[in-house]
Amino acid sequence: MDFISGFTTISSFLIACILAIGLQLSFFSPISPDMLEFPAISSSLVLSNSKLQDAEKLGEGLLVKPEDVTIDEMGVLYTATRDGWIKRLHKNGSWENWQWINSDQLLGITTAAAGGIIVCDCEKGLLWFTEDGVTNLASHVNGVKIRFADDVIEASDGSVYFSVASTKFGFHDWYLDLMEAKPHGQLLRYDPALNETSVLLGDLYFANGVALSPNQDYLIVCETWKFRCLKYWLTEEKRGVKEVFIDNLPGGPDNINLAPDGTFWIALLELVPSRLQYLHGSKLLKKLLATFPRSMIQVHGVYEKAMVANVGSDGKIIKILDDPTGKTMSFVTSALEFEGHLYLGSLNSDFIGKLPL
Ligand SMILES: *[C@@H]1O[C@H](CO)[C@@H](O)[C@H](O)[C@H]1NC(C)=O
Ligand SMILES: *[C@@H]1O[C@H](CO)[C@@H](O)[C@H](O)[C@H]1NC(C)=O
Repeated sequence: MDFISGFTTISSFLIACILAIGLQLSFFSPISPDMLEFPAISSSLVLSNSKLQDAEKLGEGLLVKPEDVTIDEMGVLYTATRDGWIKRLHKNGSWENWQWINSDQLLGITTAAAGGIIVCDCEKGLLWFTEDGVTNLASHVNGVKIRFADDVIEASDGSVYFSVASTKFGFHDWYLDLMEAKPHGQLLRYDPALNETSVLLGDLYFANGVALSPNQDYLIVCETWKFRCLKYWLTEEKRGVKEVFIDNLPGGPDNINLAPDGTFWIALLELVPSRLQYLHGSKLLKKLLATFPRSMIQVHGVYEKAMVANVGSDGKIIKILDDPTGKTMSFVTSALEFEGHLYLGSLNSDFIGKLPL
């Protein structure tokens, strides 16, 4: 009798636990995951050279997680930081707190031909900062609020091309987009003449860096979770055609910038494929992990290392620079070449890296 009632109590308890976990996973998991394949990375590419450890630290202590960098034709460097500041570094070496906006989600920035700089704000969309203040260029597309605007470039015809990393998850939940592994990213174009924004490409796996080719006949947009970047043609004959520019990158591509010699610099996030492959091996495991966000920090390796790649216009890797232990820099999100130096933004530093090339 005692044995039977004890057994019933234990089994009821177990059943209740299983039901609770099942409910948690089916109803409360923030993601509805798909599977994702990661590239097998050629070992010749992952030979470390520690070159990024030689970076000098610009503005150390002044800059809260400067994700992107841009430099105007006068040689003034701009960056947007997590405390809502657009800060700039003058040629004489002094930093200026230039413009402020109430946001902790400023990402990609670029110079504007009409003066000032254009900035991606994950909440407000596309912002244009000038000496006179800020204008919101684009906040909606097709009637839907633009969220998680990520990187931006302006073409010589005035078109502003920018990426939306995810239409589902916000900046602070970026790793949930990685766990869900569905293509929620977009490539957008803002037309200043019509004051209109349109979608050029949808279904991108975390659309991130955007760059223009030297003669502006195509755009490059990077898909972080696919370890690849796409070409999007802008010429009359091939307008709208999409091709792979480079795939099997040795990390998840973040921002991309055209270099003076016509090659590109791509910042690569250290999303360790072996760990991610394991994680992506089970939808149930992903649902479970996604309910414990802290656990994700252990899985992806972005806080441990830094890597940037120089890639030719033929889509071939020319060289890779890295910091294999994160000694000087980790989570490097952008690399911009200017006058023989590489300027490095990072979501895990309080400075801009400056490396002689
Ligand atoms: C550096 O240059 C800026 C812009 O011209 C100027 O406002 C600032 O006062 C200068 N700072 C120093 C220390 O010379
Ligand atoms: C552009 O359109 C938006 C609405 O989509 C509007 O709020 C804004 O005032 C317009 N800007 C100009 C310069 O007409």
